[in-house]
Amino acid sequence: MTLILGIETSCDETAAAVVEDGQRILSNVVASQVDIHRRYGGVFPEVASRQHILSITPVIEETMDEAGVSWDGLEAVAVTYGPGLAGSLLIGVNAAKGIALGCGLPLLGINHIEAHIYANWLGRKEAGSIVFPVLCLVVSGGHTELILMSGHGQYQRLGGTLDDAAGEAFDKVGRLLGLDYPGGPAIEQAAQYGDSTVFDLPRAWLGDSYNFSFSGLKTAVLRIVKAYEPFGFAQSRRQLLVVDLAASFQVAVVDVLVEKAKRAAEEYHAEQILLAGGVAANRLLRQEMTERSNLPVLCPPISLCTDNAAMVAGAAYFRYQAGYRSGWDLDVIPNLKLTGDTSPTPSSARQT
Ligand code: KG4
Ligand code: ZN
Repeated sequence: MTLILGIETSCDETAAAVVEDGQRILSNVVASQVDIHRRYGGVFPEVASRQHILSITPVIEETMDEAGVSWDGLEAVAVTYGPGLAGSLLIGVNAAKGIALGCGLPLLGINHIEAHIYANWLGRKEAGSIVFPVLCLVVSGGHTELILMSGHGQYQRLGGTLDDAAGEAFDKVGRLLGLDYPGGPAIEQAAQYGDSTVFDLPRAWLGDSYNFSFSGLKTAVLRIVKAYEPFGFAQSRRQLLVVDLAASFQVAVVDVLVEKAKRAAEEYHAEQILLAGGVAANRLLRQEMTERSNLPVLCPPISLCTDNAAMVAGAAYFRYQAGYRSGWDLDVIPNLKLTGDTSPTPSSARQT
């Protein structure tokens, strides 16, 4: 039984979790800063890192208490070291180093995108139910990537967004429509009352490529909002416009994501499709992906799609088993990429 403490502070959630063998969650504490950033309509990096400093120790203490584990019951400490906001990442990495050093435990730096993918293993009774190669569609506030995963830690990037990430597009369009922050869940909720056929919004197919572009779609929504503005609608008519636009936008994003993921999975002979990242919480995306693909589609539970530390501890378990360790010189890498190999350490100096 391998217990790993995971720590996540890459954006605006301060999170810590204890996970057994990469699958069983003993505790999973997430302190969200959403209420703080709401007034800015997006994450304010400086405010985020200051808030992480305030929250990190109580969050780690709470997760250890909840798990009922003592420090010497842990096997390793894992932390997200990129991609993300430099100032935010730094708080988690330093906390992890302090605990690892103080308790004599190995330190593992984990890629945030890899962690999102490994949310699919959490809570799954049979690890064998995931069969490689799998096609991963990672859709979050910062990323939209199609990744072929041929084994643990083995990735080939097939494509990604050329401009906005899918979640970013949801957030920006949410703001245009005057919806709550973050835009993703707000658009999903508004869309329930709307008619997705009212506006035929553009889809950027970009030929045969596995790349994405959402900026044209966002501009199309902006144009419609601007065109309707001067008429000064009654509140009820305005609400109708918002819900119809939300529904039409959601369908357009989901359409492109599903079609490209499906085509990539077929071309690369994937056995399954895995969804990951905050946008994977979207019910229409989950449903359409499942219905339109002939392959099994796996999604993390909705609560584990958005940022959390259980996924960090989960990914770390498989890396730990493969002998991966980080050095004490582990640094944050804000634009860290998901490399295609299982390189044993992200830094030159290995722990002894
Ligand atoms: O993975 P995540 O928590 O953070 C990043 O790594 O970026 O993803 C956050 C993103 C936000 O853009 C948010 O609007 C989006 O995920 N999101 C959703 C839903 N829930 C969260 N987008 C669409 N539908 C949702 N239900
Ligand atoms: Zn994330």
